[in-house]
Amino acid sequence: MAALLGWMLISSASALGMFLLWSAFIGAGWQPTSRRKVRKMLEMCRVGPSDVVYDLGSGDGRILVEAAKTYHATAVGVEADPIRVLFSRFAVGTNRLKGRVQVVWGNFFHVDLSEATVVTLFLSQGANRKLKAKLLSELRPGARVVSYVWTFDGWSPASRDADDEISLYVVPSHDVSSPDRAATASFHADGRLA
Ligand SMILES: C[S@@+](CC[C@H](N)C(=O)[O-])C[C@H]1O[C@@H](n2cnc3c(N)ncnc32)[C@H](O)[C@@H]1O
Repeated sequence: MAALLGWMLISSASALGMFLLWSAFIGAGWQPTSRRKVRKMLEMCRVGPSDVVYDLGSGDGRILVEAAKTYHATAVGVEADPIRVLFSRFAVGTNRLKGRVQVVWGNFFHVDLSEATVVTLFLSQGANRKLKAKLLSELRPGARVVSYVWTFDGWSPASRDADDEISLYVVPSHDVSSPDRAATASFHADGRLA
């Protein structure tokens, strides 16, 4: 009995370790964004009820819950670690947000982003670099990409909060010919894109 219990513990710990390492390998390891910075990220992109927010690497789902609960947006999270998927689905359920929030277990590099109007990220410089082409080809013009800590090499943010290390990028119109075109749009005072 003790041997079986030991074996089960070791197997569970190994499986958990594998998922953690796998996430770090394909994008970034887990570290939560503070609640204050989550709100700052969503406020910088003026998230509202008509938005569809995708959090790529959604961790425990805190960005999804905040986007839906406080800003009344629809939210989709993609998370590679199944334990965090379970935790975040539980958070979605306890906040009664099942109709507005979906958490997908998978690799965000394989998920279609075309319906997103806002993408939130807290990954790594390398993951952002790998995401650039996907964001530019799948997101519609005017979509906002907000990244905590990490930036996009070669892109100019539409705005940046240096103290909180949050950068906002706006996808430009598709008729801009450069393959690495910078997202430089800005907002009018009433929230419309300039
Ligand atoms: C630094 S955490 C950020 C969590 C959450 N977005 C937040 O801000 O609190 C990064 C998350 O991305 C997940 N992740 C990394 N690469 C991924 C990939 N390619 N597909 C899905 N999830 C990924 C990790 O498992 C981890 O939970």
